[in-house]
Amino acid sequence: MIVARTRSELAGAQQALRRDGARFGLVPTMGYLHEGHLSLVDLVAARTDVVAVSVFVNPLQFGPSEDLATYPRDEARDLAMLEARGAHLVFLPPLEEMYPEGPPAVRVDPGPLGHRLCGRYRPGHFSGVLTVVAKLLGLFRPDVAVFGRKDFQQEALIRRMVSDLDMGTEIVAAPIVREDDGLAMSSRNSYLDVEERVQAAVIHAGLQAALARFREGVRESEMLVGAFAEVVAAAPLLDVQYAEVVDRWSLESVEVADERAVMAVAVFCGKTRLIDNVELG
Ligand code: PAJ
Repeated sequence: MIVARTRSELAGAQQALRRDGARFGLVPTMGYLHEGHLSLVDLVAARTDVVAVSVFVNPLQFGPSEDLATYPRDEARDLAMLEARGAHLVFLPPLEEMYPEGPPAVRVDPGPLGHRLCGRYRPGHFSGVLTVVAKLLGLFRPDVAVFGRKDFQQEALIRRMVSDLDMGTEIVAAPIVREDDGLAMSSRNSYLDVEERVQAAVIHAGLQAALARFREGVRESEMLVGAFAEVVAAAPLLDVQYAEVVDRWSLESVEVADERAVMAVAVFCGKTRLIDNVELG
């Protein structure tokens, strides 16, 4: 496994690995890896010849009062996990390598989709995500890039960016990997204390309750959100920021759920903000 920290090391590694016709796959991450990230590595490995992973905590996507300073990091552990999983190339750029001129003057505008769901509560977040992903796609020029459904809005926006701006990379979505009790794996789960960790699993239980109602034939979004809220209300450490039924393509709220409907939620568990979603259709 080659570890590149600078653009020129990355270019050198790519030259070495890009044999004739070799297909390149990229998994962008912010590190502190878990099985969710590693499932993306497996997915890329099944579709390409060369598996590249980037590990970069992107300051552009954090708001001023968010957790950039405390975001968990463990480079040695990440590298060991990626090596064991068979990654060929890891890009670990320091800040000045990603943004040599400082914060970029030109950024990707996510448009109206970026103002929905999480975008309403995290202004600038998706512009920061799309800008760094555009840079990574530019640096790697991968044939395939994989993103997790856990970050449903992020995956939808990246798909739209690559399509709207003709960026050429195939975007593949990976299913959500969960802990045994249903909690979606996330680097931020490490913030949870013991009691919070127990109650965090109720988010998934709430989504499952909504899904069960949908499968019974309930279609009114209000009822489905109600089913979620009722379950979550039993966990006092949980505080729902939003719970919405949206169309998976437009991300617009729908009053009546159909086959394209997704319930997306953001919930505070203590001070930690967790997101999750379920495809109803
Ligand atoms: P990060 O949170 O590290 O996630 C990296 C990738 O792993 C994302 O595509 C995310 O959706 C996926 N992922 C995280 N948890 C998952 C889980 N439980 N199951 C399946 N996939 C999961 O998302 C980011 O980093 C950043 O915004 C990034 C795209 C790297 C841009 O900075």
